[in-house]
Amino acid sequence: MTERTFSIIKPDATRRNLTGKVNAVIEDAGLRIVAQKRIQMSRAQAEKFYEIHSERPFFGELVEFMTSAPVVVQVLEGESAVTKYREVMGATNPAQAAEGTIRKLYAESVGENSVHGSDSLENAKLEIAQFFSDDEIVG
Ligand code: GTP
Ligand code: MG
Repeated sequence: MTERTFSIIKPDATRRNLTGKVNAVIEDAGLRIVAQKRIQMSRAQAEKFYEIHSERPFFGELVEFMTSAPVVVQVLEGESAVTKYREVMGATNPAQAAEGTIRKLYAESVGENSVHGSDSLENAKLEIAQFFSDDEIVG
C-alpha cells in the first residue's frame, strides 16, 4: 500500500552539509520526497515532537541537539513507506546499523544519528500534521 511517512534530517547532518547525500539514499531506495523544508526547530516544537521520551534521562540532551542547528523536515511517499524508511535509516545506534543505511553511512553516535523516521502509520500522520499543512504536500 502507498503510504506517507515523516522524516527529519537532523542537525548533525545539516551541519556537515549532508542533506543532498541523505536525500540520494532516500530516492535511490524508491521513496519520493513529496514535501520538504529547512527550519530552525524551536524548543517548544522539539519538546512536543519527542514528548514520548520526556521521562528518559537523555531528553534534555535530545531537545538541545534538535534545536542546535537547522533541520530539514520531509514527507516521504512510497510502497510501505513507514517500514521501508525505517530500514533505509538503519538502527538507532549507528554501531548496530546495517551496511548501506543512512545511519551506517553518516551518523556520528546514538544521539546524533542524522535522521528521524516515523515508527508507525499512526505516528506518521500526527508528525506530518505537526510540520506541514495539506497544501504543502504535493504527491
Ligand atoms: P527517531 O527516528 O529519532 O525517533 O529514532 P529511533 O526511533 O531510532 O529511536 P528512539 O525513538 O528510541 O529515540 C529517539 C531519539 O532519541 C534517537 O534517534 C536519538 O536521537 C535519541 N536517543 C535515543 N537514545 C539515546 C541515548 O541513549 N542518548 C542520547 N543522547 N540520545 C538518545
Ligand atoms: Mg523513534
